[in-house]
Amino acid sequence: MNPDLDRLQPYPFERLRRLLAGNAPPPGLTPINLSIGEPKHPTPRLILEALTAAAPSLSNYPATQGTDALREAIAAWLVRRYALPAVDPATQVLPVAGSREALFAFAQAVVDRSRPARVVMPNPFYQIYEGAALLAGAEPLLLPCTPENGFRMDFERLDAAAWASVQLVYVCTPGNPHGRVMPLAEWRELFALADRYGFVIASDECYSEIYFDEAAPPLGGLQAAAALGRQGFERLVVFGSLSKRSNAPGLRSGFVAGDPSILRRFLLYRTYHGAALGPPVQAASVAAWRDEAHVVDNRRLYAAKFRQATPIVQRALRTAMPEAAFYLWARTPIDDTEYARRLHAACAVTVLPGSFLSRSRDGFDPGAGFVRIALVAAEAEVIEAAQRIAEFGRSL
Ligand SMILES: Cc1ncc(COP(=O)(O)O)c(C=O)c1O
Repeated sequence: MNPDLDRLQPYPFERLRRLLAGNAPPPGLTPINLSIGEPKHPTPRLILEALTAAAPSLSNYPATQGTDALREAIAAWLVRRYALPAVDPATQVLPVAGSREALFAFAQAVVDRSRPARVVMPNPFYQIYEGAALLAGAEPLLLPCTPENGFRMDFERLDAAAWASVQLVYVCTPGNPHGRVMPLAEWRELFALADRYGFVIASDECYSEIYFDEAAPPLGGLQAAAALGRQGFERLVVFGSLSKRSNAPGLRSGFVAGDPSILRRFLLYRTYHGAALGPPVQAASVAAWRDEAHVVDNRRLYAAKFRQATPIVQRALRTAMPEAAFYLWARTPIDDTEYARRLHAACAVTVLPGSFLSRSRDGFDPGAGFVRIALVAAEAEVIEAAQRIAEFGRSL
């Protein structure tokens, strides 16, 4: 077997299951799970209807490149969402079976194993970046994101010798777990580095549509490239998804968009990888990307939960309203794994220890001492969980 498989770490939810395995459920309390980033609002009817109406198309093999209709719907959405001059659906967009598989597959297609290969990523992070780098034969290079540095990736921490071997940089904006949005000045810095050292930027933007001010949607990578006058999204590929935007994580539908010369090679890789979207999934995705009303409604639900739950959680834990995404990233008064274990044992509320999302480097673990609280459950449940967290805080 591929020996690099042994370098993969257990997934955070596997570690959480083990951590909580010995806990007996406290009597009389309904369990509330705020650990996993799985949207829980219902999938909009228009998506379900488009999916079922297209069921007869299961008799056809789908093309990896997707239908023209789907690529056109995604390109049109990108143009509307980011006020871009144009996105070419033939060369600058590809559908993917959710952003997760694409984030993984991308490293396999991009990394050149014949020379030293490093892949830069944030820490804490979405663990797929690390596994993707390891299985592509590259060394992950982690940049700590902490409250002290405003959760930014301090690109200046790496010297010229390190950058010279960097082939790929993952950024996550809005960020999981802290919700930070990368500002234009940082994009300028990252593009300049990419041009100097020749690496590719993979921008994970699967939380782009979960934000709290309708007048201020998060900046996206394509938008930043256009604003900085870059031609053809050079060296940049962004990853989008319907999972959070449209409450359809089971649909497995997303896209990659950006530099056509990279996407052309990625499509070649994908035809072998075999990750084409089923025809009914493509039809449902067209319906989803064309509609914005359900996305606005979805944001309203999250905004109401954050408005109510954040001040209650703040009675017990140091945290702040995120810029975007659906997580509270909160400091724990004790060790984060111990906090999560005891909270679960006493209050039947499950949250994710921050150190399950991070790696220790040079004796410092930027996820340690935090928990991630996903405000995904229904409003009443989220508020009930926040109250239990506040009460638990008094017992510590
Ligand atoms: C940061 C980040 N990227 C990507 C994904 C994958 O989303 P999907 O594959 O459903 O598009 C997730 C899912 O939780 C995530 O948190």
